[in-house]
Amino acid sequence: MEFSDFDNRGYRTVDVRTGYGEWVASYERTVEDVMDIGLLERLREPSWAAVRRAADLGCGTGRTGAWLRGRGVPAVDGVDLTPEMLELARRRGDHDRLVTADVTDTGLPESAYDLVISSLVDEHLPDLHPLYREAARLAAPGAAFVLVTFHPHFIMTAGMPTHYTRGSGEPVAIDTHVHLISDHVAAGLAAGWRLVELHEGVIDDAWLAVKPKWERFRNHPISAAYVWRKDS
Ligand SMILES: C[S@@+](CC[C@H](N)C(=O)[O-])C[C@H]1O[C@@H](n2cnc3c(N)ncnc32)[C@H](O)[C@@H]1O
Repeated sequence: MEFSDFDNRGYRTVDVRTGYGEWVASYERTVEDVMDIGLLERLREPSWAAVRRAADLGCGTGRTGAWLRGRGVPAVDGVDLTPEMLELARRRGDHDRLVTADVTDTGLPESAYDLVISSLVDEHLPDLHPLYREAARLAAPGAAFVLVTFHPHFIMTAGMPTHYTRGSGEPVAIDTHVHLISDHVAAGLAAGWRLVELHEGVIDDAWLAVKPKWERFRNHPISAAYVWRKDS
């Protein structure tokens, strides 16, 4: 589904590498933990402390990897398309291996991970199937795939793409795609995953504490976390 059908901002749009290559300077100050970390904290599984090796797809500056390490995951490999984002992850030091690659073709070893995770990445992919297939390739039997995503309802209602503000003050959009919940379910099932949990994050008091001007969106869903399992 094309984001342009819902766009009510009309920002100039750039590709992922260009966008995150610029946003990197302020990314950590602008991304809100309540969007993704808040949802990860609600999951009943996987048992984080039991994970031996995780693949962090679209690891960016390493926020998710740092959270995983804090939960006791001993080894995390990260993949991202944007070298500038990876450089911050490298300095942060929570990943064992960091690879510049596409999340749909990572080059990481097959069946090597008991957790594959991808947070706030898939809205940049035109098609979800290659991501779910690559996650399935990386996953060991019994592994979990945790995917945190922008909720399609929010993108449609707010008409707001993923965007950042340039030093000049100009807001710039990064290529954004709208994926329905049924698109995720179809892609996950087609890749052989079994859905075991799905949580939706809404704009609540915790959100409004960090974004008071979003009162008009109170109770609207903004993000979602899927937990998929590969059969043993
Ligand atoms: C919103 S950031 C999320 C980063 C990190 N997961 C987090 O939660 O902070 C999106 C990241 O996905 C990366 N990305 C987007 N499309 C990608 C693709 N096709 N392959 C690899 N990385 C991609 C971007 O470079 C960026 O670092």
